[in-house]
Amino acid sequence: MQKSKIIITGGCGYIGSHTAVALQQSGFKVLIIDNLSNSQENVLDKIADITGIKPDFEKADCTNPISIKDIFSKNNDAVGVIHFAALKAVGESVAHPIMYYKNNLNSLMNILENMVEFNIPNLVFSSSACVYGEPEKLPVTEQTPLQPATSPYGATKVMGETIIKDTVRAHPELNAIQLRYFNPIGAHPSGKIGELPNGVPNNLMPYITQTAAGIRERLSIFGNDYPTHDGYCVRDYIDVNDIADAHIDAIQYMIKNNPGIETFNLGTGRGLSVMELIKAFESANNIKINYTIAERRPGDVPELWAISDLANQKLGWAAKRSLEDTLKSAWQWQKNVSGLK
Ligand code: NAD
Ligand code: UFG
Repeated sequence: MQKSKIIITGGCGYIGSHTAVALQQSGFKVLIIDNLSNSQENVLDKIADITGIKPDFEKADCTNPISIKDIFSKNNDAVGVIHFAALKAVGESVAHPIMYYKNNLNSLMNILENMVEFNIPNLVFSSSACVYGEPEKLPVTEQTPLQPATSPYGATKVMGETIIKDTVRAHPELNAIQLRYFNPIGAHPSGKIGELPNGVPNNLMPYITQTAAGIRERLSIFGNDYPTHDGYCVRDYIDVNDIADAHIDAIQYMIKNNPGIETFNLGTGRGLSVMELIKAFESANNIKINYTIAERRPGDVPELWAISDLANQKLGWAAKRSLEDTLKSAWQWQKNVSGLK
């Protein structure tokens, strides 16, 4: 039987590469489109090492109407598109808003236009917990009102969801699932793929692993006087492989149910403070992290974690990796990248 083809934009990146592995292992054929602005082409070989299959690859920019039209016209047998391609650094987006709006929104509109033109019916969109801003009530569900975005990056996700909603309304033959990821962490258990931040990491997990590896002298914890149970910011850290699995469930759900547009939180339902995450990392890996308490980081909300019951009810999805295994995989990946034993 011929395999169903999925186009993954941004498939060489952190979440995309894990999703490409999971898709291939679930029997899908994968075509990756990536401009390699935040990733490397050798990820394709790593995916092949894990799955035995090297995904098809087109090096292209999703904002480029000519190349995307050409790729979609040659692949109009695809059953779906998973759209990861985006710039994602919150601070950088504040400094370079136009770059973020151009890249993230033009990519999305270009992809949608070509899906309509070439009758590719199913879209999964990478949205984010940041669409909830600083919510009045926790944990958040999909019914929690969205708040104004606190950065241009966040605004591209809020606007992206609106653009998709309007497009699906105008083209009822199109289905879309918007997945609001909370804080993805960890790496593939093989240690062959993981998160490779450019330069100094913005996110907590790679900062922790780079500190453990001696690349950074110490971790700065941004604030210890938040109105939370221990004074540190609380987030919903979720294994990247659990996030990847949800994309397969979403594609299969759309193929089966033709649902129009739906939106799901992807979290664990467990809020962990920065200090609790550090302590859990230390105990999972038997290693100490140097840290210091620093000023609050502008734009950080005190607490954010999710109820993901809807994804469980409709997609049959739930986060299932243990925190300990996730933290071990993060450290294993860092050791592999750093050439440590
Ligand atoms: P990533 O940077 O590792 O991957 C994104 C990939 O997209 C990269 O390989 C990059 O080269 C590519 N890309 C960017 N712009 C492109 C363009 N115009 N054309 C073609 N390729 C392009 O990021 P990630 O962590 O894997 O995130 C994937 C998606 O999930 C993004 O949309 C991001 O906003 C969203 N998201 C991520 C997080 C997180 O914490 N990692 C949280 C919520 C949402
Ligand atoms: N933190 C530190 N020190 C660091 C880095 C982070 O103390 O060096 C703290 C932050 O203050 C925050 C927590 O660790 O309290 C998590 O910070 P991250 O930067 O890892 O994650 P965020 O929750 O700020 O943001 C992430 C993604 C965004 C996404 C958002 C949704 O980076 O893309 O989750 O909530 F939009």
